[in-house]
Amino acid sequence: MYRFRRLRRDEKIRSMMQETRLHPKDFLYPIFVMEGEKIKNPVESMPGIYQYSIDCLDEILEQVKTADIGGIMLFGIPTHKDPYGSQAYAPDGITQRAVRYIKEQYPALYIVVDVCLCEYTSHGHCGMICGEEVLNDETLPYLVKMAVSLAEAGADMVAPSDMMDGRVEAIRTGLDQAGFTQTPIMAYSAKFASGYYGPFREAAHSAPGFGDRKSYQMDYANGQEALREIRADIDEGADIVMVKPALAYLDVLKEASLTFNMPLAVYNVSGEYAMVKAAAANGWIDERRIVMENLTAMKRAGAKIIITYHALDVVKWLA
Ligand code: PBG
Ligand code: ZN
Repeated sequence: MYRFRRLRRDEKIRSMMQETRLHPKDFLYPIFVMEGEKIKNPVESMPGIYQYSIDCLDEILEQVKTADIGGIMLFGIPTHKDPYGSQAYAPDGITQRAVRYIKEQYPALYIVVDVCLCEYTSHGHCGMICGEEVLNDETLPYLVKMAVSLAEAGADMVAPSDMMDGRVEAIRTGLDQAGFTQTPIMAYSAKFASGYYGPFREAAHSAPGFGDRKSYQMDYANGQEALREIRADIDEGADIVMVKPALAYLDVLKEASLTFNMPLAVYNVSGEYAMVKAAAANGWIDERRIVMENLTAMKRAGAKIIITYHALDVVKWLA
């Protein structure tokens, strides 16, 4: 009889047989920066996650530095919002200033910045609007301006999350023309219109003021279309492609990893984090076990990069 249990007998052989292992460098840790001073606001639905003003960033950046993870994923929250999201590409916008500060103080830290307009627009949509329509082509130049101004501030990588068609090509061209030929693009390629972004919208003040994002983010029923989105972003010049959210979309991630010979990222989003934290706080699950299981599954499904609010905890558990 073939006995699978021979290789499961004790920890020594089990650890030798382990096919997937998490490593600190797998992770990008999201950080929310807002204008003002002396701010460390807890995000209620995301225990352990805060909005920081620039002068309070050191506390979290020191932790990130010690953890020696892959890098951070930065989200800026401006005070002033307008229909054009002008603070998204202002040279002294909150995100640009945060990038400059972090680059100066933590030159070894890898900074990825989310490129999208929803935190910056008064209507909360990810692009320009006309009436209730979110415009595609009219939005592209604004995304390009934002990406270029962040690269100028010192961002190491840009990550467009808006889901406008053609934005990867537009941003690649814009970066190249501005001399940033070496700045990679990590595209949120298969980004689904998901209920799992709820807590993030509280954290980033980015909930749409009317309607929803279904005319640009994907229907969660669609796996084939997700592969076409990913292919399109690769063809447009994306360096890394992303599937988002993670847990309910591991099939998409797995299929993408079998289909494309490309570095894949997955975003373990705010709602996924909130569910684990809430259940753990009630004593209903073992947080450490659940998080390790979830993140290992993401890597097993093909993720090279995992963007997760759990990153700093996981690194402590791995040590
Ligand atoms: C901006 C953006 C969102 C997230 C990342 N970038 C929100 C959205 O699309 O509504 C979600 C991240 C999370 O839920 O953790 N477009
Ligand atoms: Zn957006």
